[in-house]
Amino acid sequence: FAPKLLAGSKLMITAGPTREAIDPVRYISNHSSGKMGYALAQAASAMGAEVTLVSGPVNLATPAGVKRINVESAQQMLDAVLADINDQDIFIGCAAVADYRIAEVAEGKIKKSSETMSLALVRNPDILATVAARNPKPFTVGFAAETHEVETYARDKLQRKNLDMIAANDVSIPGLGFNADQNALRVFWQSGAEDLPATDKLTLANQLLSLIVKHKNNP
Ligand code: PMT
Repeated sequence: FAPKLLAGSKLMITAGPTREAIDPVRYISNHSSGKMGYALAQAASAMGAEVTLVSGPVNLATPAGVKRINVESAQQMLDAVLADINDQDIFIGCAAVADYRIAEVAEGKIKKSSETMSLALVRNPDILATVAARNPKPFTVGFAAETHEVETYARDKLQRKNLDMIAANDVSIPGLGFNADQNALRVFWQSGAEDLPATDKLTLANQLLSLIVKHKNNP
């Protein structure tokens, strides 16, 4: 039984990796499994929220009661987010969005020729910063996947992207973070921080959502 802390709220979550096409058969991506974002969607739905889950390609079942929109690339994820962002109360960016995409996607399969090859990449739009720049904006929560100087980089993202809150995970710790069943988060907001020690992702999702509700109501 979950207390209905989010009854009447609309919440959008991004989850999973994005895939950036190289040619019709290849792409660049990352190790996100979607487990953290799906746990947030499941927990938020159980707390009574109307949840929209914008998901990169993952092998997970859609949590009960959740509206899921499937995308592949960062640009498609941005488009799906913007199409539905207007009346959202809370936005959580948990997806591992590719920072770069291939400058020119080849129309046909690239054939091997020389010993080395280079791919030119261009920056992708930042979905989280785009949402946070809106006026009015939903209560906007980012994630930060770091391997060192976790607090410095997380606080920098909090300021630079104009977020209300950021949940940092140290993805260098074996057994936590990308594609693991457990995670640990250090959550930062303007005037404070809280550690959520290592546990399963659904428990963490419930803890993070409780923090979000607390700070959304008392900024
Ligand atoms: O999916 P799992 O296997 O369960 O793993 C969970 C996780 C490790 C992927 C998750 O906990 C996590 O850290 N997600 C964010 C990963 C990430 O891309 O972090 P980042 O520090 O590169 O990005 C910072 C924030 O900006 C994130 O909220 C990200 O969604 C957002 N972003 C980044 C780039 C971009 N172009 N658009 C974005 O919205």
